[in-house]
Amino acid sequence: MGQALNIALLPGDGIGPEVMDVAEAVLDLLIQRYQLPLGHTRFDWPSHAWHQSHGQMMPSDGVAQLREFDAMLLGALGDPGPLEDSSRFVLSDSVSLAPLLALRKQLDLWACERPARWLPGAPQYLADPRAREVDMLVIRENSEGEYSGQGGRLAPGTAQEVATQVEVFTARATERLIRHAFRRARQRSTQREVPRQFKNDKHAQVCLITKRNAQPFWGDLYTDTFHRIAAEFPDVDIHHELVDAACMKFVQCPWRFDVVVASNLHGDILTDLAAVLCGGPGLAPSANLNPDEPSLPALFEPVHGSAPDIAGQNLADPRATLMSLAMLLDNLAHHHPAIGSAAQHLHDLIQADLAREANGEAFSGTRETGQRLCQWLAA
Ligand code: NAI
Ligand code: MG
Repeated sequence: MGQALNIALLPGDGIGPEVMDVAEAVLDLLIQRYQLPLGHTRFDWPSHAWHQSHGQMMPSDGVAQLREFDAMLLGALGDPGPLEDSSRFVLSDSVSLAPLLALRKQLDLWACERPARWLPGAPQYLADPRAREVDMLVIRENSEGEYSGQGGRLAPGTAQEVATQVEVFTARATERLIRHAFRRARQRSTQREVPRQFKNDKHAQVCLITKRNAQPFWGDLYTDTFHRIAAEFPDVDIHHELVDAACMKFVQCPWRFDVVVASNLHGDILTDLAAVLCGGPGLAPSANLNPDEPSLPALFEPVHGSAPDIAGQNLADPRATLMSLAMLLDNLAHHHPAIGSAAQHLHDLIQADLAREANGEAFSGTRETGQRLCQWLAA
């Protein structure tokens, strides 16, 4: 067996530590049961508490420390602090979320993959029975675009205030994103037991999202790049939606989508919608990857945030984090076949747990869900 791989566990704050407790217990049992060559280290930063005692969300060399790991699992960030008592320590969203954006940017984790597949037992918010066939992968640009952090406020707080928020789209980032979407679409079609049918008898599809009618500069760069790369993938059906129409179609006929490729902001918004199509925030995982540099640690995290409204109440569904852990293990599986077996076992356990709810059982609580899964694993 090769050298052990190291996973950084970053609980964060809000519901993050609660869902990470479950993920850590499950990971420990998987390591034991499959003799996995994996170790893990749990960090108390980035977090609200760390900011409170150190004046920043994480140490200045935080990203450099995390770069040494083979993968990272994040719970959630964004605990604002006790809002009801303004004398207490309150953090703005942009400060608390900054470490996540720093990790994505500084490690160049430019592809954010968010699978959205409805599983039996998950809440089904759309009445149409075809809503159970939803199986899409939204790939969100993760390094630039609307979240480039360029701009500022002139004369803040005055009637003359001017705020600018500049969007930056480069040919390099656009090209690698769109090519990755086509590769993934092709790969998904080869992994499916029952082929899906798209236009012209094709079994894979990529839908490009823009707002090119109102934002033509980057919209046209995306569109031109999309058509150029599509010519290299004649087996993949192509499709374009303006982001507002895509919101309607995600509700009207989400089963028609396969791979969806979108900018940073559009992908962010569409994936909360896609999460609800698959049962809600507690069931939506994600991966932040650099497909060109597999040696950089990828970051896995639930799509949801710190959920301050339910934090500390045993109400957070830990399964989005467990699904993210399963994606992390899938991503490391090429190092050792046992890691792939453990990932498959975890996928199966999550599905079995959800299936209980198909039989009318209610979500049983963060800790209870963790205890049940651990009992099944230890059996
Ligand atoms: P949120 O995802 O934290 O919560 C939205 C709604 O979903 C809330 O009603 C919450 O109770 C529910 N929810 C979230 N996760 C759940 C789970 N596991 N089980 C059951 N219900 C769950 O989004 P919100 O309220 O917009 O943001 C709160 C904070 O989180 C903000 O500071 C935001 O910036 C941050 N945030 C952080 C993210 C991250 O760490 N990756 C991603 C999104 C938001
Ligand atoms: Mg989001």
